[in-house]
Amino acid sequence: MRLPSLIKAVLWSFVGVRRRADATRDVEQAPAWMIVIVALIVAAVFIAGIASLVRLVAGTRERPAAGVSVEAPSPPTTTSPKLHGPVAVNDTMAERMVACTTCHGRTTQATKDAFSPRLAGKPAGYLFHQMVSFRDGRRTYPPMVYLVQYMTDGYMREIAEYFEQLDLPYPPPEPLTLPPQAIARARQLVEHGDAARDLPACVECHGESLSGLAPAIPGLLGLPSHYIAAQFGAWRGGKMRSLPPDCMGEVARRLAPDDIATLAAWLAAQPVPAKMKPGTQGSRRLPLTCGSVTAATR
Ligand code: HEC
Ligand code: HEC
Repeated sequence: MRLPSLIKAVLWSFVGVRRRADATRDVEQAPAWMIVIVALIVAAVFIAGIASLVRLVAGTRERPAAGVSVEAPSPPTTTSPKLHGPVAVNDTMAERMVACTTCHGRTTQATKDAFSPRLAGKPAGYLFHQMVSFRDGRRTYPPMVYLVQYMTDGYMREIAEYFEQLDLPYPPPEPLTLPPQAIARARQLVEHGDAARDLPACVECHGESLSGLAPAIPGLLGLPSHYIAAQFGAWRGGKMRSLPPDCMGEVARRLAPDDIATLAAWLAAQPVPAKMKPGTQGSRRLPLTCGSVTAATR
């Protein structure tokens, strides 16, 4: 058994090309000194691999000095700070919120699916209140509950303000496949409500252009129809609640199920204005009292 074939046997047994029994036999036949040499070589390759990985990760910080260190191979004293050098990630809100955008969307895609809502551009008071609701048990989606469990109000406000400022493209409107009576019904509900059901118009709270009213009422455009329908289902089933009096829960319960499907399809088919910015509520009186709005405007 010569050294090269032993090295081959060990390497093969790593990648599984050679059958395990053959590799084992080769190793058993080798003298002890050969095994020690092979072990040293494998260890050296392994350590070199890790060292170059660390260099790669810490590289952005070290770059100014890189030219120098190439000419002078570094003695051990200079390598140790490198090994422990911090990974160069800027401690900004944008970096910290990357964890959220895996579900809530980043620049190339405003939302990953119809289930994780868009956050970008929604009024800060609204976003803040939703996080508080996850923390305090009014909303129950477990990953969100865990994420905000130990956040302070101050940090949640900062996060909410960050996402309010974030300007991401909206998805294109969904195709409108409703029959004409359904379109008329959706318009009626959105613009005038339904007196027979004691239902106020959506625009009275969400603004004439449906782009929301700061600080606490979100816009209704650019949301997927599945998402809108699911939210209404959650309000009706008590899975989603707001600070009492919960005006959206009330609106959802006053609507007929058919109306909800119609509204969701119609809203999702509306084009989003180029600059979708919430208006301000100011001294406007809402047709129903909303606990979340009262809390945000107090
Ligand atoms: C695992 C995927 C996931 C991650 C990660 C995640 N979220 Fe969420 N988030 C969701 C889903 C799904 C909902 C809607 C749940 C529901 O309707 O009950 C949601 C809802 C929200 C809402 C309410 C939005 C609205 O319009 O109702 C806010 C605010 C929010 N998340 C903030 C965050 C922040 C801040 C982070 C990062 C710290 C984060 N999320 C990370 C999936 C996620
Ligand atoms: C009395 C005021 C009021 C009226 C009327 C109202 N809303 Fe709302 N809506 C709110 C508030 C406030 C919220 C924020 C939810 C909360 O309080 O937690 C909201 C939230 C929503 C959301 C969640 C948006 C998101 O980004 O997750 C949808 C969807 C919605 N409303 C649809 C409607 C529709 C459709 C109508 C008309 C049928 C309507 N609302 C009428 C006050 C109102």
